[in-house]
Amino acid sequence: MDYEIRGASSINGAFKVPGDKSISHRALLFSSLANGVSEIRGISTGGDVSSTAQCLTLLGTDIVRRDGIVTVKGKGKRSYNAPVSPLDAGNSGTTMRLLAGILSAQKFDSTLTGDETLRRRPMQRIIDPLSQMGANIVPSYNMTAPLKIFPSSKFHGIRYELPLPSAQVKSSILLGGIHADGETIVVEPVESRDHTERMLKLKKIQTPSGLETTVTGEYIVEPAEYEVPGDISSAAFFLSAGAILPNSSVTAIGITLNPTRTGLLDVLKEMGAKVVIENVREAAGEPIGDVTVSHAELKGMAIGGQLIPRLIDELPIIGVIGAFANGETVVRDAHDLRRKESDRIVAVVDNLAAMGADVEELDDGFVVRGSGSLNGTELDSYKDHRIAMAFAVAGLAASGKTVIRHSEWAQISFPEFFEILENLVVLGKQGNDPFPAGVGKSGLTAAEGS
Ligand code: S3P
Repeated sequence: MDYEIRGASSINGAFKVPGDKSISHRALLFSSLANGVSEIRGISTGGDVSSTAQCLTLLGTDIVRRDGIVTVKGKGKRSYNAPVSPLDAGNSGTTMRLLAGILSAQKFDSTLTGDETLRRRPMQRIIDPLSQMGANIVPSYNMTAPLKIFPSSKFHGIRYELPLPSAQVKSSILLGGIHADGETIVVEPVESRDHTERMLKLKKIQTPSGLETTVTGEYIVEPAEYEVPGDISSAAFFLSAGAILPNSSVTAIGITLNPTRTGLLDVLKEMGAKVVIENVREAAGEPIGDVTVSHAELKGMAIGGQLIPRLIDELPIIGVIGAFANGETVVRDAHDLRRKESDRIVAVVDNLAAMGADVEELDDGFVVRGSGSLNGTELDSYKDHRIAMAFAVAGLAASGKTVIRHSEWAQISFPEFFEILENLVVLGKQGNDPFPAGVGKSGLTAAEGS
């Protein structure tokens, strides 16, 4: 569906976002491998996490959702049933890559597939290490999904140095590793999100080759009670709107403050926004807290190197922030952004250019020369949830009317996005309603309206 936004005067208030997507996937997967009953509170409501739950159900795991609590009856490692049909990971790279690690060690055939976008995304990055472990994976053309996975004659541990920082690849190997003979060691040159290591309570050590995590095939996954913290990557859109719209201040309640995820907060601070973190506490082995971002004059900055994995999913909204900062915002070392749900370098550059921004495409990033304004226009979501949401925020800060085509893609991670946005923004730039046909008003969710 098309979503129409007019420039807003400010954004204010406190909000809660649904559970973190990365942590929710892992809570489901690890619960399915545990021998006993696990409970998950605050799970992500997005389509990606539903894809994981559906795949696990097809593999024989009993998953029930009641009153916001998900109960998973795991039967231990190697307890999955052979699936009667292909496992559909939908749009979710995390579902496909993490499940591939587990399925490589099973005694039955399985097929992992996904939607049109996921079937174009690179799978060699997991096929290489899993094959070194003895996995028997037959991909489709150009090392993409569907992936046919056959039983391995000998599935064993390896030492693997990640050629690119990727939590999905790291987790896929570690999940293979807890089913493999002997020891599996994953070495990360640059640290990526560490939810798998935290939830499985794995030790990491710094060595000259990088950060090393070790598991063995003897590892037993315990049932647990998970309290999933709010998703900082969902909160990012409203926090960023708070930074760029004058007279604004927004507070995200109870979001992940895991240092491997908080790159955006560091960037907002360095660009000049006011960032206050309060009520720091712990949930699901993760630091969480309440984060307030208030508007201030922003200046552009260079973003690259070790910072990239700490804000990889926030780079589209950082592009939008760049348009409202003085000087240049330069993003580099983010080549993998071309391999996400869309080519996010192209999506950010083309949409910002359509709004009149001074923007330049780089092979591994982009440059935005901020002018402090954008012009509303018709934009595409590129069938990418983060592009739909980043440019809804751009529309809020732009002059005139912005239309996001296929805005329903926001549902992949954050079905409540438009409704929360409408609650936080009260007044348009000229005192008018910024959402004349908003989802909250029609009572429709974005998907129902599509
Ligand atoms: C994720 C890891 C990141 C991130 C994705 C979720 C995860 O991908 O972009 O949205 O849950 O492990 P990479 O690990 O491929 O960088």
